[in-house]
Amino acid sequence: MSEFKNKIALVTGAGNGIGRATAVALSIKGAKVIVTDINKTSGKQTVDQILSDGGKAKFYQLDVSNSEQIKNVIQNIFKEQGSIDFAVNNAGVGGKLEGIHNLNIKDWSNTININLTGVFCCLQAQIQCMLKKRFGRIVNVASMAGIKGVGGGSAYSASKHGVLGLTKSASIEYGAHNIRVNAVCPGFIETDMIKKIPIKILEFSTHINPMKRIGNTKEVADTIVWLLSNESSFVNGSSMSIDGGYGNV
Ligand code: NAI
Repeated sequence: MSEFKNKIALVTGAGNGIGRATAVALSIKGAKVIVTDINKTSGKQTVDQILSDGGKAKFYQLDVSNSEQIKNVIQNIFKEQGSIDFAVNNAGVGGKLEGIHNLNIKDWSNTININLTGVFCCLQAQIQCMLKKRFGRIVNVASMAGIKGVGGGSAYSASKHGVLGLTKSASIEYGAHNIRVNAVCPGFIETDMIKKIPIKILEFSTHINPMKRIGNTKEVADTIVWLLSNESSFVNGSSMSIDGGYGNV
């Protein structure tokens, strides 16, 4: 029997892109997927997709920039579902593309609040639930921008570097409690997020990528599922690149 069967798997930002693909992949493994997103319509579409394929899913609206809401919604999920076994902190935004000398503090804070503080608050609330069960598997979605700098994307890059620091620290704090925390660092993946990136940059990155293409959401989702599974039982605090080797160029 699949280790995910009837277990509770929470995904943030599961209404689109990588989050939706991860929710679907977890459902195929047999998990009951808790689909959360700021966007009710798209989140419910993910749930409908899972249900129509015979899986189990429920939607909870969750804005990861709202720390009080995170606390309340995650406590409520734990109360209603009985556990949170697996969690994927995926919700994120590209943020404003602007040079540092021109970047408005509001735009900086917005990106940091969603991409970094949001992951911290979700992680904190999830770990509080997981400690009660002495079991937990968490994957935070960082980026290759968490390893490299991004000209014109300083807030995004800083937020994703922060996610990796948070992941490593959490792995040290909770490894002895049977809670593993890892991160993934995707390269360019075909989702709505990259529609804002100038086509010249995408073409150039495809050109220099050893695999000569960008990635797709299933490739990220499958790696996340592996990191959540027993197949990766001694992997803790790692940052797994999913970029076709782009980070090595
Ligand atoms: P996407 O734009 O397709 O999906 C993002 C989802 O997050 C949407 O459903 C959106 O409604 C939700 N979201 C946005 N703000 C939110 C908030 N405040 N609270 C809750 N949900 C919110 O983007 P994609 O590409 O699927 O991104 C998912 C994650 O992957 C992000 O953390 C992103 O930084 C990361 N990533 C994406 C890459 C790419 O090339 N697409 C590359 C590296 C990392």
